[in-house]
Amino acid sequence: MNALTIRQITIKESLIGRTAFESTGSFLPVSTVNMVKASDAVLLGSVGANRTTDITYYPGPETALLKLRKLMSSSINLRPIKHYDSINTSFPNDNLKGTDILVLRELTSGIYFGKPKIVRKTYAQTKATSLEGVDTMKYSESEVRSIAHVAFKSARNRKKKILSVDKANVLESSKVWRSMVLEVSKSYNDVRLWNNYIDSAVIEILANPREFDVVLSGNLFGDILSDQLSIVSGSLGMLPSASLGFNGKGLYEPVHGSAPSLTHKNLANPIAAILSLAMLLRYSFHLNKQASMIDNAVVSVLKRNYKTSDISNGKRYVSTSEMGDLIASLIRTI
Ligand code: IPM
Ligand code: MG
Repeated sequence: MNALTIRQITIKESLIGRTAFESTGSFLPVSTVNMVKASDAVLLGSVGANRTTDITYYPGPETALLKLRKLMSSSINLRPIKHYDSINTSFPNDNLKGTDILVLRELTSGIYFGKPKIVRKTYAQTKATSLEGVDTMKYSESEVRSIAHVAFKSARNRKKKILSVDKANVLESSKVWRSMVLEVSKSYNDVRLWNNYIDSAVIEILANPREFDVVLSGNLFGDILSDQLSIVSGSLGMLPSASLGFNGKGLYEPVHGSAPSLTHKNLANPIAAILSLAMLLRYSFHLNKQASMIDNAVVSVLKRNYKTSDISNGKRYVSTSEMGDLIASLIRTI
């Protein structure tokens, strides 16, 4: 932000996640909630916990993120997925050239928030036997209609194509999803709509990635799709996101979590976070020029062959802070 010398925006910082827990006993302290309520936009550092050795039923840092998304009513999650010529992916690059997909994920409903959501004891003749975890996948007509309209309007400004992803052969919530998306499509005759099931969607997309434009899905399927489609960009460390509410506020965060294995190593790729800032400037403050300066600086740095370890293909790489400095210094010279 310093490199862009934007003076109209007041920036304040507050804690969330593990650091917040360590200093206040809460993953989402009241002071942060109040600051969020008073802000137009929030740029979030990734949260997550190392659960490989410690899967617990207790709330973790992720609960803070989910509460924040709900608090801000950030139901429209935009996850742009682009291919960069200068990054060698594990997929044939020729196929991916020019790929530009917008994953549009519904973010404040579906199985992430449906009730009941509990761990309960099961009983056999009054004796507790074992635990049972329950989640509820739910979508109402109006929820699907709202996000579908956003998808069709977005597609109109792009290549006018939508793939809607569900599991309508099995899930009732997906049946409502599919029929509502179809209903909304009737008001947008200029946009082409496809449907596919989550289990085959990524294979269909990667077989012909340039053909795809907007990929619309519910909360859980959008989570899965966006991680998988990071193949297109070469790393999850490249994917930014914007979560917009119908109230005009915006929450901006990388698609990735916190990568606990990289803590204190100065190795994480900062590009997803930096591109999330560009989305913040574009969507919350309409500073399109400054947002493009950031996007262009990222492309230029990659072209000059500066890569973090996740996108370096085993070759020489720069650290997190070096990558940040390189992008900032390029912005200053643009
Ligand atoms: C994401 C992340 C989050 C999610 C986690 C950290 C709760 O995976 O933004 O994709 O599941 O939504
Ligand atoms: Mg995810």
